[in-house]
Amino acid sequence: MANSNNELDGQVAIVTGGARGIGAEILRELSHKGAKVVALDLDQMQIDESLKSITGESLGIAVDITKPLEVKEAIDLVLSKFGRIDILVNNAGITKDALFHKMTYEEWSRVIEVNLSGVFHVTQLAQAAMVKERYGRIVFISSRSSLGKRGQANYAASKAALLGLAKTLAIELGQFGITVNAIAPGFIETEMTRAITEKTGQDWSILASTMSDQTAVKRIGNPSDIANAVAFFCSPKSSFVTGQTLYVTGSPSV
Ligand code: NAI
Repeated sequence: MANSNNELDGQVAIVTGGARGIGAEILRELSHKGAKVVALDLDQMQIDESLKSITGESLGIAVDITKPLEVKEAIDLVLSKFGRIDILVNNAGITKDALFHKMTYEEWSRVIEVNLSGVFHVTQLAQAAMVKERYGRIVFISSRSSLGKRGQANYAASKAALLGLAKTLAIELGQFGITVNAIAPGFIETEMTRAITEKTGQDWSILASTMSDQTAVKRIGNPSDIANAVAFFCSPKSSFVTGQTLYVTGSPSV
């Protein structure tokens, strides 16, 4: 019987925003399961640093996912090196929080550009490669904030849009053996959430303790909580699971 740790042997997985945080952990998890992993992120040095902990085959490409030409070059490079794309995890994302009445159009549009349009550029090219192989796993990293969060109108709108996109692509691509699912993480300790304390001057341990208290399991999440959920959707065994949103929040209530 196949070792479950090798269930992604021979597969090629792309993770956007793979240079740090949740994306870096997803890369490690998929590599651990045997996939050749590709990190797409903004800064080559940060990507290389993140890939140092990967023992299997890997490739890091500096690309801004909001730039269609850069994305095309990156996907072409992946295909010329590895010949196929089996898994795409759309993880790159940003926040630019402000109450809606104070939100600038720049804050609105940049978040939509990265979190939604960036996903469009990468997914459109990756799905074409998957359709050729009649196999694929696409995962969107949405957010619990997609249900609405004070000060995050732009972010919540972008992350809720991903849920509609996932369901639609699930319908369009299912006939080609491609599943499309979304994960909505709760509060996860990464540089993104640590930046909140830098902005507000609040002590990290107080914020973490407040956020822990709001969960049923009485702790905040860590990147591997999300990476494990991603691995479930990426498994060849998950072929009957598509168009779903999995809330990984440490609570039953969303
Ligand atoms: P992070 O800020 O630590 O990492 C995000 C990565 O995306 C960075 O390496 C960044 O350089 C990259 N990135 C940003 N813009 C890009 C662009 N235009 N092109 C290519 N790469 C780009 O964030 P974290 O916490 O690891 O979050 C990962 C994903 O999970 C994001 O989509 C975030 O919205 C989502 N998420 C995070 C939560 C948390 O509590 N940390 C909760 C819910 C969702």
